[in-house]
Amino acid sequence: MLTVDELKKIGFEYADKLGADRSASEFIIMHKFGVTRTELIIGEKRLPDAAAEELRVCLERFSRGEPLQYIVGSEEFMSLEFKVTPDVLIPRPETELLVETLIDMFKDFAAPTFIDVGTGSGCIAVSLAKYLPSARITALDISPAALSVAAGNATANGVADRIDFIGHDIMLGFPSLPAADCVVSNPPYIRNGEILSLDKNVREFEPLSALCGGADGLDFYRRITKCAVLKSGGVLAYETGFDQSEAVGEILRRQGFKDIRIIPDLEGRGRVVLGVK
Ligand SMILES: C[S@@+](CC[C@H](N)C(=O)[O-])C[C@H]1O[C@@H](n2cnc3c(N)ncnc32)[C@H](O)[C@@H]1O
Repeated sequence: MLTVDELKKIGFEYADKLGADRSASEFIIMHKFGVTRTELIIGEKRLPDAAAEELRVCLERFSRGEPLQYIVGSEEFMSLEFKVTPDVLIPRPETELLVETLIDMFKDFAAPTFIDVGTGSGCIAVSLAKYLPSARITALDISPAALSVAAGNATANGVADRIDFIGHDIMLGFPSLPAADCVVSNPPYIRNGEILSLDKNVREFEPLSALCGGADGLDFYRRITKCAVLKSGGVLAYETGFDQSEAVGEILRRQGFKDIRIIPDLEGRGRVVLGVK
């Protein structure tokens, strides 16, 4: 057996040798081997000897550009734990703004209904179900592998009974579903021409189908806005790229949506666009 202190020392040596950040080694020790921050500081917890070799393999993957979340297999979002595999986009902190906005808008509704388009890891659908305990959600994705990860996350977070997962290509229109109180989406929105300039850890490791939004990045917003199955007075809610909120607001305006609102992130950039049908 190895103590956490011994493993930390080995990890720092590997990290230095690979030119990797030492904090990556600590992150892997905590999330791969179930070590809490306190246990990391105290350093006395014992782990199997094999942890040293596993840590070395993980650090090598990290030094080749693989995101830490895929290496340890999970990410935190809205204070909940989500399993992630290379089949799903890693949930981003900016998406929490979209979810928090909707929780605030729908907290006093009795049994609101949502359709989450492009659910990926299920981070939006599962968080809405968790923090709005009477909500029902239908979550769509074109990727069967992503839907399987999302369904696992719904079960792990205790909300599987209120989410239906459906395999569907939204470019074919909406499946036949009852009109919802809210259609929400964080769709693929990177312009095709910008894919090559993304960071290597995104471009080479995250699923391209979760990123490419067409020539101007707006294909999914046009499609979803045109055919969203919403009740009258229902809300269409999007995350957008940092420079797309005005253009997405205009797409909603042209489709007759009212009360269009753009919500900025902490840096003042519009990242959430809302409209009322
Ligand atoms: C940007 S990711 C968002 C994932 C997750 N909702 C999140 O916020 O982290 C977009 C998702 O849309 C899905 N997607 C891509 N093309 C699609 C299509 N034509 N129809 C339905 N889903 C699609 C991808 O598989 C991916 O899971």
